[in-house]
Amino acid sequence: MTIGIGLLGLGTVGAGVAEILATPRGRHPLVNNLALRRVAVRDLNRPRPLQLDPGLLCTDPQAVVDDPGVDIVVEVMGGLEPARSLILRAIAAGKAVVTANKAVMARFGEEISAAAAAKGVYVLLEAAVGGGIPIIEPLKQSLGGNRITRVSGIINGTTNYILSRMAAEGAAYTDVLADAQRLGYAEADPAADVQGGDAADKIAILTSLAYGGSVPRQTIPAEGIDQLDARDVAYADKLGYVVKLLAVSQRIASTPDDDASGDASPAADALMLDVRVHPTLVPRSHPLAGVNGVNNAILVEGEPVGQVMFFGPGAGAGPTASAVVADILNIAGIRQACGEAAGAGLDPLLAAGSWRQCRLIDSALTTHRNYVRLRTSDQAGVIGQIGTCFGQAGVSIQSIVQFEADSEAAEIVVITHEVLEEHFRQALATIASLPEVAAVEACLRTL
Ligand code: NAP
Ligand code: HSE
Repeated sequence: MTIGIGLLGLGTVGAGVAEILATPRGRHPLVNNLALRRVAVRDLNRPRPLQLDPGLLCTDPQAVVDDPGVDIVVEVMGGLEPARSLILRAIAAGKAVVTANKAVMARFGEEISAAAAAKGVYVLLEAAVGGGIPIIEPLKQSLGGNRITRVSGIINGTTNYILSRMAAEGAAYTDVLADAQRLGYAEADPAADVQGGDAADKIAILTSLAYGGSVPRQTIPAEGIDQLDARDVAYADKLGYVVKLLAVSQRIASTPDDDASGDASPAADALMLDVRVHPTLVPRSHPLAGVNGVNNAILVEGEPVGQVMFFGPGAGAGPTASAVVADILNIAGIRQACGEAAGAGLDPLLAAGSWRQCRLIDSALTTHRNYVRLRTSDQAGVIGQIGTCFGQAGVSIQSIVQFEADSEAAEIVVITHEVLEEHFRQALATIASLPEVAAVEACLRTL
């Protein structure tokens, strides 16, 4: 049975997908059954490394979705609109969708899933998180028997590539970002990468799969690497840490909803989560510290499985196309097995609907280890005063170091033990008001 593929987009990812479809030899035999029927691009005159039959290309994405020869719509154009409307249009036409678009799925995932469930079609998104790393299907299926307690890791390839090269070569931020764009790692607007928004989109998606309920994307606090000072990367190194952009989604409390009745609970009983993205000092001995370049790594912790780590290339044409084609093959396999009855009943694990409500905990009530860099006057007793302020707020200090002093000023770096965020903020406010403290120059989380 031949299955018609319509591609929305022929950029980094779309070209990678077209390349796999054009070279089936040595791959799974089902790839032979996939026929690229139509491709939408913005600019027909743009030079493209992959030579496709020019008759396949058009500038009307709706025509691709509506083409009767297209059975699976592959959305790899990016952006919110028209991507969202095109996905919904494909669903309304009873067509399965494969997408790499985390921005759309993080914001409109519930709307899209509901439409897909009502129509009995699959919308798969393996490529939306972790590039070539299989993480979506493992969370939906292979780890389905677990009570997930934490999902954390490095899920943006561009920023990991930048941080790794800055640390290893002392390369300049803007030069390395330009390289990441040239290599096809960065988003069309790289602000999404460097300001943490892309990682926030991805952790929103992982959260909904890990816990069976979503949190509104706009409520997830996200801090990127664009404000990161090279001094802090250097000080972190001296103290035995590397700086990584981490995304974390953690189950906070046991609630009645945890008792797995499977019923949706009222908001008051929603599962409480701490979800966030920020640059983090990672001890050099931690497995995430050795994840460099464009690689991503995702640590899933659950009961009873324990810890499972997923590692691999997190962006780029080949790895991302690998994930897109895996989704196409999943759908093709079901169609092959069930024929026209394929949409009669969706596999609930593959379709992955939500079954409960989740909500974010007040960040003041979360606990973390912290790194703080203070600019102070260089005089006797300052370190003691700072230590006293932390102590009075109930913040326990792991280390306090004076790094640099001239006749006028000193730089003091403090690493705390795990403390309540509320107490940490109180201490910092008191410290900032000390006459000897010129500025709280940096404040980062520490693993
Ligand atoms: P890209 O290189 O910018 O390619 C986008 C493609 O979509 C281009 O071919 C463009 O046409 C086409 N396009 C955009 N808007 C269109 C419109 N309105 N009508 C018709 N065609 C349109 O982007 P990409 O890097 O492949 O990323 C695509 C998606 O995959 C995004 O959602 C991204 O977040 C996601 N993703 C990317 C990666 C990665 O490593 N790059 C990894 C995982 C997920 P032209 O070629 O004519 O400009
Ligand atoms: N811009 C994204 C990244 C692409 O660098 O991780 C992969 O989703």
